[in-house]
Amino acid sequence: MSIRLGDDAPNFTAETTQGTIDFHDWKDGSWAVLFSHPKDFTPVCTTELGAVASLGDEFAERGVKVIGLSVDPVDSHLEWEQDIAETQGAAVNFPMIADPDRAVADLYDMIHPNANDTQTVRSVFVIGPDNKVKLMLTYPASTGRNFDELLRVIDSLQLTARHQVATPANWKQGGEVIIGAAVSDEDAAQRFPDGWRADKPYLRWVAQPAD
Ligand code: BEZ
Repeated sequence: MSIRLGDDAPNFTAETTQGTIDFHDWKDGSWAVLFSHPKDFTPVCTTELGAVASLGDEFAERGVKVIGLSVDPVDSHLEWEQDIAETQGAAVNFPMIADPDRAVADLYDMIHPNANDTQTVRSVFVIGPDNKVKLMLTYPASTGRNFDELLRVIDSLQLTARHQVATPANWKQGGEVIIGAAVSDEDAAQRFPDGWRADKPYLRWVAQPAD
């Protein structure tokens, strides 16, 4: 099944390193990141899980729950997590889904047969409190993901969910943002009483709104 932005994130029940979960119950109205990696005991994946573990406080500050997945079984995940703690300086602090029958991988279209017909690619789904898919990323096995970029995108998603703004290329926390195209100048005057800078009628800049 292919998933598109704005779709409901499909629910599932799965075995994880922290017990059996019902995904929607586990998520419980939070933001969530569901990400897959190809295989346990592989080098790039080892660095990725260590990187995500080391960002645990960053995800928590944003109210984001994190859950990983590969087609390996729970025993394998748990044994590998010892290597991750030993070599990456951070112990895995989020559940890892064991998906040997590929039920979740198929549900989320994480196996791309022309890349590999048995292992999941490096998929990332950011799912909102409303259980809708807000963002999807797909990387090949050979390229480790940039999880600082994932945090940056989550910051943008959370900001744009609260305010009628969009974030420009390479935006970072604290940078100027763009007044959404659907906001008329009249509405903008209400929302942004200090005014804005317009490079073009459709390109209107304001300071990042405070939370
Ligand atoms: C890795 O994590 O290094 C990896 C996993 C699967 C295929 C290629 C590389």
